Amino acid sequence: MEFKNAPASVNLEEGNRQHEYMEKVKEIIAEKTRKTGKKPTCCVTTFGCQMNAKDSEKLVGILQEVGYEVIDSEEADFVIYNTCTVRDNANQRVYGRLGQLQYYKKHKPSMKIALCGCMMQEPSVIEKIKKSYRQVDLIFGTHNIFRFAELLYKTLTSDEMVIDIWKETDKIVESLPVERKYSFKSGVNIMFGCNNFCSYCIVPYVRGRERSREPQEILNEIRNLAEDGVKEVMLLGQNVNSYGKNLDTPISFAKLLTEVEKIDGIERIRFMTSHPKDLSDELISVMKNSKKICRHLHLPLQSGSTRVLTRMNRRYTKESYLALVEKLRSEIPDLALTTDIIVGFPGETPEDVDDTIDVIRKARFNNAFTFIYSKRTGTPAAAMEDQIPEEEAQKQFNRVLEAVLKTAQEQTGMLKGLVKDVLVEEINEHDASLVTGRLSNNTLVHFKGDTSLIGHIVPVRLTEAKGFYYLGELV
Ligand code: SAH
Ligand code: SF4
Ligand code: F3S
Repeated sequence: MEFKNAPASVNLEEGNRQHEYMEKVKEIIAEKTRKTGKKPTCCVTTFGCQMNAKDSEKLVGILQEVGYEVIDSEEADFVIYNTCTVRDNANQRVYGRLGQLQYYKKHKPSMKIALCGCMMQEPSVIEKIKKSYRQVDLIFGTHNIFRFAELLYKTLTSDEMVIDIWKETDKIVESLPVERKYSFKSGVNIMFGCNNFCSYCIVPYVRGRERSREPQEILNEIRNLAEDGVKEVMLLGQNVNSYGKNLDTPISFAKLLTEVEKIDGIERIRFMTSHPKDLSDELISVMKNSKKICRHLHLPLQSGSTRVLTRMNRRYTKESYLALVEKLRSEIPDLALTTDIIVGFPGETPEDVDDTIDVIRKARFNNAFTFIYSKRTGTPAAAMEDQIPEEEAQKQFNRVLEAVLKTAQEQTGMLKGLVKDVLVEEINEHDASLVTGRLSNNTLVHFKGDTSLIGHIVPVRLTEAKGFYYLGELV
């Protein structure tokens, strides 16, 4: 199928246009509410990364604004999947659940099913949905999510499948409503897209070129969040270390952090993700001297073999990664490092995996997300001839996982017995007499407490180290 080019008319006025559509949808929803005596319900399901989670908050913001009641069940009147396509299993989960949704819709024909997010930027996916999932009412992509109000209007006033996918956009639309999941912490987009083209990765194709938000927009948003009671912000981008380089008035990520630090009320600053090739000395120094930047850095390694890293187009070596870790550890000794690792990249040998394990041991990661390589159509790695059989990849994956578990337990356990500040996030999922919170270094802690603690930063003694998390006592 043909992807549309973004219309030239997209600009800051787009926000106003969308607010007009919200008014129109509000009337439709109000009419439905009058007729049935209750608000129609909606359900937003998110797959994938923090960026998608943030986008879903925007979808929920609009759905609430126009009058829907947000519920957790997919038997809602309006169901939307915000999809991910970074690995094939993410896609398969969407297809599986879509089957279930179509079943619900059979029993409730007035139901509307919508799909958006990264998977929808792939033409083959759209073809498949058009062919095999005729019950879907609305499909849009990552570049025009700000048009959701308008697309919702079209869907509610039409019986045809509405499809609107743009192949690119260079615009950022501000000022649309957002419904935050937590009252005390929030993700904040600082940039969109990615220019790195790691050879295995589909993100640059589905999220487009790198675009940074203006620092004033970001800082205003964070000031408003702080006024609203938010204590922790997570600055989001695929490669935050290259933030600001392409703005009319360039600014470094480290400088942006210094400005965020000045905002009263914000007590913790996190960010995701840092590409090792762009991590500057300026950033290390700002982190070191900061009272608010959390003692945690997610620094994806992907592979410890320089040969594989080169084929991955990561633009660093085993040695330079380890040197960076050394520098970080000596400057910020209490820093927790986490990482992402891919096993089974085309041509990867057991010796390459030995290198990865060597880096895991030397870098002493607090945690690592380990993935089996997934072939993504259209990426350079998908065309490489030496693809690794699933079985072999699984065998190597197990070796890597073992190494990760060992260092993660050792590293995480190092704070045992100490008293540390914890930002309490929620009642424990399994035991309602406990609350769950996070250390500055991102480790989870569970301890006795109640809802009155949620959103507060409290001192907790870390009494028991349980592998990836702690049990503690409020002091
Ligand atoms: N921008 C981030 C990563 C975003 S994707 C960064 O560069 O660090 C999150 C993780 O998914 C990646 O770090 C990588 O480990 C994994 N990933 C991406 N593409 C993959 C693929 N084709 N197969 C398996 N894992 C993949
Ligand atoms: Fe993908 Fe690499 Fe961009 Fe991360 S930096 S999103 S892994 S292309
Ligand atoms: Fe997935 Fe898109 Fe994020 S592909 S990992 S949801 S940027």
